[in-house]
Amino acid sequence: MYNLLQNPNAFILGVPGAGKSFLTKEEIEFIIMSTNDDVLICDPEGEYDPIIKQFGGEVIEISVGSKDHINPMDMEDGYGDSGNPIGDKSQFIMSLFEQLDRENKSITPIERSLIDRCVSIVYAEYRKTKVIPTLKTLRNVLLKQPESEARTLALRLEYIAEGTSDIFAHETNVDVSNRIISYNIFNLGTQLKTIGLLIITDAMLNRVISNWKKGKRTHVFIDEIHVIFENEESATFFASAWRQFRKRDAFPTGITQNVKYLLSSQQGTSMLSNSEFIVMLNQSPNDREDLADLLKISEEQMSYITNAQSGCGLIKYGASLVPFINRMPKDMELYRLNTTKPADRKEMLVQTEQSY
Ligand SMILES: Nc1ncnc2c1ncn2[C@@H]1O[C@H](COP(=O)(O)OP(=O)(O)OP(=O)(O)O)[C@@H](O)[C@H]1O
Ligand SMILES: [Mg+2]
Repeated sequence: MYNLLQNPNAFILGVPGAGKSFLTKEEIEFIIMSTNDDVLICDPEGEYDPIIKQFGGEVIEISVGSKDHINPMDMEDGYGDSGNPIGDKSQFIMSLFEQLDRENKSITPIERSLIDRCVSIVYAEYRKTKVIPTLKTLRNVLLKQPESEARTLALRLEYIAEGTSDIFAHETNVDVSNRIISYNIFNLGTQLKTIGLLIITDAMLNRVISNWKKGKRTHVFIDEIHVIFENEESATFFASAWRQFRKRDAFPTGITQNVKYLLSSQQGTSMLSNSEFIVMLNQSPNDREDLADLLKISEEQMSYITNAQSGCGLIKYGASLVPFINRMPKDMELYRLNTTKPADRKEMLVQTEQSY
């Protein structure tokens, strides 16, 4: 259905409980059953595990102490979209640094040059030695630079490159070849969650590039996407990832209950207004007004996203706005697989106990 549009970029927006994840799961189930495409999911709430397991996919659990690792220094041939893969990787690494300092979330021009220089050195060494670099390698290179700022950067990196939180400083040890992969970051602490989301997006980029070379299409779903847009470097990396997805036959979908956050960033606003497929479920009054302005939604059309039932709302498809009702009956197997409602879960537990 996306093929008729100018780009495959999609968003699913709605207040908590409006049915965003439910709809995403329905879409994933449809793709798995009706195509040969690959599906990659970033799951901050840890709620996609049942459907991934049901369809034989792989859940990669990332948390402090977990055995699964993905290496942010992995770089597939053809990485980036500027013709300068090392520069693009540096942009990504800068977005990580930005998340590492809670007080001062910005990168100075000196830091920018240092990161760029050290990332170049790391990959030049890799070309010679063929030893896969990790964040530990990058930290060691930073420590060898004469500038004091480089040592400050190394100190910032220490938090995720050494010690108990070094989950992202190992070589990738998970099988990322499964057709359906979900990255579960539910147990990752708040500070590491955004870093995790960035690193997963980078891993997805590598996978999308490798799929593209094989002529395989990929669908990417990122839940809780708004956290990325709080910081400039992260938003820039993300906007570039979105562009790369599109150019490499991948269909990215961002999911969030926080439209305000998304629109507070220039990159977020431009990503949303350039998306050809936007599903709006029930909206809060403020978000509704903002969306009406951005997407030119009339008063009458607004009624479809005001106090809407879960699973109902308005779709922007290219230039058209279409109201929809998509209620799934509770007795369907798929409903049981998709629901997150505590009452439903309790009911299912009782039914299972009774059947024993
Ligand atoms: N299409 C639908 N048909 C029937 N029930 C639905 C539908 N969509 C959602 N629901 C009901 O609403 C509940 C909440 O939906 P969902 O988990 O998708 O919310 P959400 O928008 O992702 O919320 P959050 O922002 O908290 O993650 C589901 O567990 C289900 O009971
Ligand atoms: Mg949800």
